Amino acid sequence: MSSTPNTYEYDRADAPADALRLHLNEHTGGCSPAVTTAIAAVTRETIAKYPDYTRVTQAVADHLAVPSSRVLLTNGLDEGIFAVAMAQLRQAGVGSRESGVAEGRQPAADSPTEAVILEPAFGMYADAVEAVGGTVVRVMPGPDLALDRAAIAAAVTPRTGALFVASPGNPSGVSLTMEEIAWLASLLPAGAVLLLDEAYVEFGGESVIPHLDTYPNVVIGRTFAKAYGLAGMRVGALVAREDVIGRLRRMLPPYSLNVFVVAALEAALADQAYMDGYRAEVAESKRLLYEACDRWGLTYVRSDANFVLVRAGDRRQALLEGLEARHIYIRDRDRQPGCQGCVRVTTGIVAHTRACIEAMEEILCAKA
Ligand SMILES: Cc1ncc(COP(=O)(O)O)c(C=O)c1O
Repeated sequence: MSSTPNTYEYDRADAPADALRLHLNEHTGGCSPAVTTAIAAVTRETIAKYPDYTRVTQAVADHLAVPSSRVLLTNGLDEGIFAVAMAQLRQAGVGSRESGVAEGRQPAADSPTEAVILEPAFGMYADAVEAVGGTVVRVMPGPDLALDRAAIAAAVTPRTGALFVASPGNPSGVSLTMEEIAWLASLLPAGAVLLLDEAYVEFGGESVIPHLDTYPNVVIGRTFAKAYGLAGMRVGALVAREDVIGRLRRMLPPYSLNVFVVAALEAALADQAYMDGYRAEVAESKRLLYEACDRWGLTYVRSDANFVLVRAGDRRQALLEGLEARHIYIRDRDRQPGCQGCVRVTTGIVAHTRACIEAMEEILCAKA
């Protein structure tokens, strides 16, 4: 397996074409057919122009039931994570100066440069923080991946510019409660933001978006990669109060999404029935995998996402190798905090999950 399994999520995106990719939490059924139809209908004239995001932003805003002024579309949620890191952790005060004028604005010595990351976390948070010159402050999980409130409270200081956490979490699949989210938001110093990453919320858990007015320091991250199957298109969104969105917008290029993405996203959002069908497949896939794990005596974490973290223990290596030999890719999460002995399995289309379970059964039940 990869030599850097715990940093960035996307190694092994190069799995063979015929492989069953259950290691990146992708949509295993492909996007709605309406998406490819919409892409094919993009005209030469549209391609020749810079994109206009008014209509697609409104479509996303309607879908999320917020005003469009609270939505910033991004080139994948990854770009949104970078925007938050840049807005919150760059040395404040660095700006432009006129040629020949010696004094530019100097970085404020006390500007916040630390980001608190609740482990086990999506690897992009740390990568983005480090890329903008910020300092990562990792907080380890409590028993059973619970929040360690004392450790989190100790990690947040006046130097904290952002706190990154996903709900449902990756790799855990566990959602935070509203009370936990409110507590996290209340801990932060003035000016800091809580990036609440809801990449998987379509599959379970509760979105904080309806409560945005209660939490002015929360930025919600969404992606259309997972439930809508647009990972290859690269499209996500940040949702926050207008003043925060205004600040984040300045971190990004003005035309970050191309015209094909715009057409794809409009078509995907218009086909909610397709998404609902996929969500039902994911729910059934998780049920089948839980049932199989119970049979094999493996424990797992009940997931609100489109994947399951399975505690394979000393059978982990055999599973990873045996599945890879059968061209089925799952994800080794052994080295992430709180995930010793764990593998993460994407649970998408039921037929794919059945194929994976069958292969796992062969491996786990093989005579030594
Ligand atoms: C928790 C989490 N956030 C964000 C992303 C990135 O989303 P996107 O593909 O839209 O950049 C992922 C992708 O795996 C993820 O797991």
